[in-house]
Amino acid sequence: MKGPSGHGAAQDTGGKILEILRERHEVVSGEELSRLLGISRTAVWKHIGALRKLGYCVEAGPSRGYRLTSSPDLLHPSGIAAGLNARLIGSSVTCLAETPSTNAYAFRLAEEGALEGTVVTAESQSAGKGRMGRQWSSPSGVNLYCSIILRPRIAPVNASQITFLSAVAVARAIRLITPLQPAIKWPNDILIDGKKVAGLLNELSAETDEVNFLVLGIGINVNMRPEQFPQDLRHPATSLFIEGGVEVDRTLVLRTILAELDRLYGLYLDEGYAPVRREWLELCNVMQRRVRVSNNDAGFTGIAIGIDEYGALLVRRDDGGEERVLSGDVRLEQ
Ligand code: BTN
Repeated sequence: MKGPSGHGAAQDTGGKILEILRERHEVVSGEELSRLLGISRTAVWKHIGALRKLGYCVEAGPSRGYRLTSSPDLLHPSGIAAGLNARLIGSSVTCLAETPSTNAYAFRLAEEGALEGTVVTAESQSAGKGRMGRQWSSPSGVNLYCSIILRPRIAPVNASQITFLSAVAVARAIRLITPLQPAIKWPNDILIDGKKVAGLLNELSAETDEVNFLVLGIGINVNMRPEQFPQDLRHPATSLFIEGGVEVDRTLVLRTILAELDRLYGLYLDEGYAPVRREWLELCNVMQRRVRVSNNDAGFTGIAIGIDEYGALLVRRDDGGEERVLSGDVRLEQ
């Protein structure tokens, strides 16, 4: 187990047992499991017990074998890795039951030297971090809270390009597996019909001229019900369930995001920012539209006309001047 609240790295063995039981769809003897995994039958039995505690139903058949009859809706490394077609992302996956923040957890792992592509998920977060010091509501078992470690060899000034890349990955993944049509609101909110369904918080460790690592934090409201949203939300929010009317498999959402991230990050390393920027612009909902930009108490209106190579939003102000917006809140003007 990965700490008292984790069902993470231990699953190396538990996860392998699950993989074997899933592949076989039949009773597998304790003896065979012990031979395949190189552990004693007592150890197999203990791992089966731990899996049952996590909600997996493992029948012990009369021939003293084991059969998996149902799995809980829990994120699990073996479920995420199954069929994940990725070169780099998902090189290591840790699924926690609860943690203050997957970003904080992944940041620590990265400082300790974790591999590029390492993924951390949690069923719930007790102090989920949002943009601008806000809290990210993180009830248990219904949503996705996930952080991914990247180690691109780029200058810190280009790190925001990776934020755009992750927003494209999330919006595209939702479009691939649901009939919904999310759009990106600059810089990296994912909206459906003007309501926020996902947010990204990327954190950076860097020297003056090179990035050490980046933690991409992704929060997606997947199966959250209306009554589970905090009362005091500043902006309208939604979930994939609310928009589509059906529950969505969280593992599938995550696996699709990781595959998209892998594709886009590969493209970024091979060809640079241009193809990512093109995809971002196709998915963004503010281009050539009238927006209001607010930064603390100041604000102005104008037409959004593009993003530059550092991810700044370019806005033609009503008074004719052009503004590079690097931070703040951007809303469509009605
Ligand atoms: C936003 O405010 O829009 C960004 C929200 C980001 C939330 C995610 S959930 C997983 C990761 N861990 C955190 O503490 N925050 C990010």
